[in-house]
Amino acid sequence: MPKSAASRVSKQSSKLAALTRKNSNGADLFRYIEPTHSASDIVLDADAYRILAEVAEEFKRGDDLRRFGLKPRSKLLFCGPPGCGKTLCAEVLATELHLPLVVARLDSIITTYLGETASNLRQLFEAAATTPTILFLDEFDALGRTRTDASEHSEIRRVVNSLLMLIEEFEGRGIVIAATNLERSIDTAIWRRFDEVVFFKSPTGRQILRLLQIKTRNFEVGIDFEKYLSDLEGMSFAEIERVCMSAIRREIMKRKSTLSDDTFSASLRDEKRRILIRDNIQR
Ligand SMILES: Nc1ncnc2c1ncn2[C@@H]1O[C@H](COP(=O)(O)OP(=O)(O)OP(=O)(O)O)[C@@H](O)[C@H]1O
Ligand SMILES: [Mg+2]
Repeated sequence: MPKSAASRVSKQSSKLAALTRKNSNGADLFRYIEPTHSASDIVLDADAYRILAEVAEEFKRGDDLRRFGLKPRSKLLFCGPPGCGKTLCAEVLATELHLPLVVARLDSIITTYLGETASNLRQLFEAAATTPTILFLDEFDALGRTRTDASEHSEIRRVVNSLLMLIEEFEGRGIVIAATNLERSIDTAIWRRFDEVVFFKSPTGRQILRLLQIKTRNFEVGIDFEKYLSDLEGMSFAEIERVCMSAIRREIMKRKSTLSDDTFSASLRDEKRRILIRDNIQR
């Protein structure tokens, strides 16, 4: 990152870090994250890549659009199963656009002390309007649940509606991203507030190979990953990454410098066992 951009981000970050709030249980309502991942760390499908590249370019050349009375697209909804890159992508955008990243978990926000919540949210959006920021609203489906649940406390609904207004009225020079893995629980009134919806899916065969290549770039590989494809298909990016990291860790502990079939297979078996246990618990 150029020096001037780095110092700008660090100034913005300290303002935002000061905004970090905890709820009455001590959990973070807003969390400032130092982005470390860049575009070379993420595997995206062609549609997601195109949309995100366009959004990034519009952000950089926003003035060109504003001269014609148009606005850059800046409100995005990220949908898809766990471990497929929604949070990572927000971080990559923050790195690429030299913007600070603030993460808010909506489930903890709307179950926390409500009197404070509305004003905290307002402050967060005000800060994001003056300091270009990527505002990442995680667990966004929590919002849909409270809107449809008639038994919910009316104050929760007020907070939810005020959040929707804040999103709608957001005119800042940053980007608001909401993420969910339960896109079906988001009603159309919420859906239409976003400029773009980006879907993150489980990886295809080619994407698995690309991910393995990225994750093993600092270690020698003595195996042909293609023969593991049928075993890895259906797993999320995060699960495949865990297989890879576990195998490399094992080789290092065995003082080996090359990733071998035996070790990779053992780590793959461990991950499959873990997935089986999780699926049994969730059933
Ligand atoms: N598309 C991807 N490309 C490369 N790595 C990925 C990708 N998706 C996930 N990963 C790896 O898995 C980790 C977890 O992914 P991430 O936190 O982005 O998932 P998520 O979609 O936000 O999941 P959740 O719905 O549980 O929040 C990432 O830090 C990264 O290491
Ligand atoms: Mg996430």
